[in-house]
Amino acid sequence: MEKIIDEKTQGNTLTLEPKTGNYRKLYIESYGCAMNFSDSEIVASILADQGYNTTNLLEDADLVLVNTCSIRDKAEQTVRKRLEKYNAVKRINPKMKVGVLGCMAERLKEKFLEEEKIVDLVVGPDAYKDIPNLLKEVEEGRDAVNVILSKEETYGDVQPVRLGGNGITAFVSITRGCDNMCTFCVVPFTRGRERSRDPQSILREIADLSERGYKEITLLGQNVDSYLWYGGGLKKDFKNASEMQRATATDFAKLLDMAASAFPKMRIRFSTSNPQDMHEEVLHVMAKHENICNHIHLPVQSGSTRILKEMNRQHTREEYIKLVDRIWEIIPGCSISQDMIVGFPTETEEDHKETLSLMEYVKYDFGYMYKYSERPGTMAARKMEDDVPEETKARRLTEIVDLQQKHSAYRTAEFLGKTVTVLIEKESKKNENEWSGRTEHNNVAVFPKENYKPGDFVKVKVTNCTTATLIGVAIGFSQSN
Ligand code: SAH
Ligand code: F3S
Repeated sequence: MEKIIDEKTQGNTLTLEPKTGNYRKLYIESYGCAMNFSDSEIVASILADQGYNTTNLLEDADLVLVNTCSIRDKAEQTVRKRLEKYNAVKRINPKMKVGVLGCMAERLKEKFLEEEKIVDLVVGPDAYKDIPNLLKEVEEGRDAVNVILSKEETYGDVQPVRLGGNGITAFVSITRGCDNMCTFCVVPFTRGRERSRDPQSILREIADLSERGYKEITLLGQNVDSYLWYGGGLKKDFKNASEMQRATATDFAKLLDMAASAFPKMRIRFSTSNPQDMHEEVLHVMAKHENICNHIHLPVQSGSTRILKEMNRQHTREEYIKLVDRIWEIIPGCSISQDMIVGFPTETEEDHKETLSLMEYVKYDFGYMYKYSERPGTMAARKMEDDVPEETKARRLTEIVDLQQKHSAYRTAEFLGKTVTVLIEKESKKNENEWSGRTEHNNVAVFPKENYKPGDFVKVKVTNCTTATLIGVAIGFSQSN
């Protein structure tokens, strides 16, 4: 799942094999980015040690946790609606406790308890280890809040429980927080300053996944290319690091190289790359290792240099194009996906046309496109008027979505007649006689099951396709991944 905001998984409840001896029931629901889903696995792990097994029946739960997203207003409204639903259930089961985790918890803090009477517990993204203490407070009848952001916390020492997964693909978080301060974005406020996780703990987690039969990992961070380990501490404090710390520091290229070399059978993806931090070194590491997928999620947000500047993205349109060209020089055929925002304050028809023309140049394989949503507290909200009318935003969004559809279809069709390696993840939703998996370029592929099974790397000859899916037949096991 490379998608950052996967609408299909929004609100998924997460369950795992019950731990014997545990008798309390946790219902945990996640919204937003992959990091939130990954964090919920950390929370479930912390609570498994407190006697909680997960359930996917809300009515059965002793504790309901919702891991929330603040990225757009709509994301917050979705959570508010879910709280109404929990409220209805709480009327039947008054002992049920409700906690709000994640970005909305961090953004609204104590205010949540005033605004939503149903909430007993508010926990920000860096305070999950405090949940056992907070639950004690709640049991004693007090409301409990911990929204302290940390300089150090990476949860590197918590072994996540893999919830609701397929046993084949997993997320491994490598950085937390973000320092980029894009003017539209709430993440630096809700997830705090950027810090990286100890590479040894990352490699241990991958080793554990590998032993348990996992075949693909996605290294996760708001901005993975900015990864920097120099013994702990904030990225922004690296300037004060000692000479020794500098000499032995691990950056993203090095981490990727270490992971790919140590686990040649494991397929490796990463997300997200901010163009301003993506260095050529990473591209060379990708080219060097067969097990690193040739796909880069490279959000650009706008094709207009003027708007990019207003957004505080640290590159121009031309620099972005240069980077894309370099990607294709070093990794021929590398797939590239985007995030795009339409209707950022002051965006003119000219700016919008620049976005369309940039898309035309890159012909992205995939894309996630949004209307600008003003977020309280961000620089854009403080300094700029949300002045693009709703109808204009809607129309521009339709235009870029339509164009992206065309490009996705074009990119998918490029694989017709070719043979691709597919990692089987699950049964196809549309046909129980077919497997569904993904190629290294992140295309979904379906093909008749024959004697293959989930977790197999299979060579598939592509005979047909839709806009987003490759359709083919298996022609044997693949030696590569
Ligand atoms: N670096 C992050 C970005 C997180 S937000 C990552 O790992 O993906 C994901 C996407 O949401 C952004 O790339 C942007 O396109 C979109 N987004 C962020 N803030 C937004 C806002 N205020 N309005 C609309 N879309 C927004
Ligand atoms: Fe947000 Fe920009 Fe960071 S989009 S997560 S501030 S890279």
